[in-house]
Amino acid sequence: MAIEIIGTGRAVPPKKVSNDDLAALIDTSDEWIRSHTGIGNRHIADESVACSDLAVEAAKNALAMAGGYTGNDPDQRDKAAEQAAAAIDVIILATATADFFGTPSTACVVQSKIGALNAMAMDITAGCTGFVYGLETASGLLSVNPLRKRALVIGSEILSKMTNWDDRGTCVLFGDGAGAVIIEKTLDNRESGLLYSLLRADGSGNESLVMRRGGSRNPYKKGEVVDTGICIEMNGQEVYNFAVKAITDTLETLMKTKIEGLGDISIERIARIIPHQANARIVQAAAKRLRIPIEKFYLNIEEYANTSSATIPIALDELNRSGQLNKGDLILTVGFGGGLTYGGNIIII
Ligand code: UT7
Repeated sequence: MAIEIIGTGRAVPPKKVSNDDLAALIDTSDEWIRSHTGIGNRHIADESVACSDLAVEAAKNALAMAGGYTGNDPDQRDKAAEQAAAAIDVIILATATADFFGTPSTACVVQSKIGALNAMAMDITAGCTGFVYGLETASGLLSVNPLRKRALVIGSEILSKMTNWDDRGTCVLFGDGAGAVIIEKTLDNRESGLLYSLLRADGSGNESLVMRRGGSRNPYKKGEVVDTGICIEMNGQEVYNFAVKAITDTLETLMKTKIEGLGDISIERIARIIPHQANARIVQAAAKRLRIPIEKFYLNIEEYANTSSATIPIALDELNRSGQLNKGDLILTVGFGGGLTYGGNIIII
């Protein structure tokens, strides 16, 4: 049995906000943001757009590709996506910025909008590691049940609505976006597709990256004057140190993993590493510690900033649609984020 990726898609809001645009509104500068994070821009959704809206667009692009259509005609894309959606058995949507608090899941909203009438649908909360977790969860759900064949895995975020725009330490870091993949279970015994996932958590760091208000721990109370919405609070230094160790440890472990028929996962054997991108300096520090050339890492943080669970699937789709993924390529993903969570996937294209 193999779990193959047969379609990828992404959706990013058209509105691009540069560092200079932010510097006109808050006390920051292009120089500070670039030198401390590698971020140049972020895409921000309009007020009317919710997590499911971006997720649906990314999903339709991935579904259309799975159905054989990769062109730009919206009607043809929708037609191909509609047909492919009927064959989806599982929808897993990773997000920290769901349409609704608690229920319904954003995955269910997406299921209805794309017409995946035969699919189960659920969200997972694993911060920026959400897509890495989601891929393994979906793969497991396909593997255990002979009747399930195809899954849609999405990472989608509207972080701009959960950002405290008065906190320059966090608001410059995040952007909105969504990425999606379709995976299919094949009965061939091939060494390809999703081969292995490493999933880890260190819940002792749960307060380092937190949306403190609104949950059952700290609900808004009747009559309370709400001066800020639910927003991300982060202990940047703590998360930074965790992140460098998480990337380094994850990649080291993945590279030591023995998979029958694959041989050693040497640096030369790896075609690309797709890291979660919260800060280019985190990736550079891990690359240096592991003595992996930085060129192996696919970085697009300059354009999108940190899009949490969407970062890895957006990058995967960019590589795929620009013809940079070849049959047989070995790809490692590596994620880290709120929870705290971390992990990675080994994928052969
Ligand atoms: O995806 C989820 C996981 N998230 C992460 O992995 C994020 C991890 N953390 C980081 O990437 C970094 O810690 C940050 C980018 C958040 C912060 O970088 P830093 O180099 O650790 O900066 P800092 O917080 O130590 O702040 C240094 C200085 C401070 O000024 P003083 O106190 O030294 O005068 C800050 O007030 O930089 C100041 N500062 C800013 N200045 C201009 C903080 N934010 C800004 C800003 N513009 N936006």
